[in-house]
Amino acid sequence: MKHKTAIIIGAGDRGGIYASYATRYPDQLKIVGVAEPVKERRERIATAHRIPYQNVFSTWEDILSKPVMADGAIIATQDTMHVEPVVRAMEAGYHALLEKPMALTEQGCNAIINASQKTGMTLNVCHVLRYTQFFSKVKELVSDGILGDIYTIYHAENVSYYHMAHSYVRGNWRNSKESSPMILAKCCHDMDLLYWFAESMPRYISSFGGLHNFTPQKAPKGAPKRCTDGCPVADECEYNAIDTYLHGIPIKLGVTKTDSRAASIAVRFIMKFPRLAKLVPVVRDYVDYRGWPVSVITEDLTKEGIMKALREGPYGRCVYHCDNDQVDHQVTTIEFHNGITAMLHMHGLSEQECRTIRIDGSKATLRGKYGGGGQLEVHVHRTGKKIVYPIKTDLIGHSEGDWGIMKNFVKVLNGGKGLTSAIDSLQSHIMCFRAHRACVEKRVVEL
Ligand SMILES: NC(=O)c1ccc[n+]([C@@H]2O[C@H](COP(=O)([O-])OP(=O)(O)OC[C@H]3O[C@@H](n4cnc5c(N)ncnc54)[C@H](O)[C@@H]3O)[C@@H](O)[C@H]2O)c1
Repeated sequence: MKHKTAIIIGAGDRGGIYASYATRYPDQLKIVGVAEPVKERRERIATAHRIPYQNVFSTWEDILSKPVMADGAIIATQDTMHVEPVVRAMEAGYHALLEKPMALTEQGCNAIINASQKTGMTLNVCHVLRYTQFFSKVKELVSDGILGDIYTIYHAENVSYYHMAHSYVRGNWRNSKESSPMILAKCCHDMDLLYWFAESMPRYISSFGGLHNFTPQKAPKGAPKRCTDGCPVADECEYNAIDTYLHGIPIKLGVTKTDSRAASIAVRFIMKFPRLAKLVPVVRDYVDYRGWPVSVITEDLTKEGIMKALREGPYGRCVYHCDNDQVDHQVTTIEFHNGITAMLHMHGLSEQECRTIRIDGSKATLRGKYGGGGQLEVHVHRTGKKIVYPIKTDLIGHSEGDWGIMKNFVKVLNGGKGLTSAIDSLQSHIMCFRAHRACVEKRVVEL
């Protein structure tokens, strides 16, 4: 089978991840064009994929004004810049892979779906969790009837305290008006899962939440506007930007909370003896950790570059003195037409980044925890037996899902049928829009 081709629109964090699929599987996909205004990012992708200079552009408008140059377009621009590029890409003749959220309004989502139907181009939205072993297994257990008839789902999105601070207090999604409300930005994946598992249309939705932790009222006494300005509580603060971005401390601690004993020992060793650790090849990479979220704050990942970004950019700000308005905790309840009730609990105070789920059916209870890999258990009522389904993956975070959606996209480009349709994705977005309305207006909304 000959490889398929794609262009990248928006070569930031996500665009870079999707492009790297082509590096890993060159027999499946080749990146042949890029549009990205930031020079370093544009050049990084162009060099890595040997893109001819005539296919390298600064903006999506530029690349899409040229004759179609690939089978597919991967659109990974920020939340507010999805509708126009994806509609234009499909009109130009590209099959589209679009980052979530599809759009910030129902009208925007509908415009995208209409464009897909009108042009006949396929549209896949990056609901990457559907492509993980963990959630695929949950779906299989639900669909196979192992749990009996299911009546209730409890699903929690436990956002780690450092991810919350990085993305939703200091970073790109801190302000709902400049990006999208938390329920859409963070939880449209979870809504998609609930809709997938319930196998029914949602009927009623209610939601409560608020911003209570990351506010000026919670600032420690004497805390300056920036962590680089000599904060009196720097040594005790879990949100200390220098610890987070220069030393990667929350990330290293996060590794110690995984099941990997070797990683845990390595991290403790590094934290105690950083200089010595630099001499040991296997642990050296951890010492000068420069992956996410550090990689997002600057293109210059030297010590000086990071400190400059902290002194001048958004990520050095005290978490209690930002221009954030996103909720830091929210609870949403849903009733589906088939009678299933579901609860989605999102909060940004977790010690570890993970999702937890519990589904109760007439014959069994399923419990699971997902954070990269994870573990699933089914407790059978009649026998009292506990069946454990260990989920193993070498990939961290939701990289497994990122790879999965790219594999699916290649399949679609080859004429195959994808796992999820654009209409399915629309449903989860409508659930988010209505949940947001229910939360703001403090009422139950009918879908
Ligand atoms: N599927 C997931 O699990 C997941 C996870 C994180 C983020 N996201 C979503 O992915 C999208 C991208 O997030 P990110 O973290 O990569 O953001 P990012 O800011 O790192 O990347 C966006 C890129 O778009 C570029 N851009 C800006 N204007 C442009 C233009 N006119 N033409 C072309 N490119 C332009 C920016 O320079 C930037 O490099 C967001 O919508 C985000 O919500 C999805």
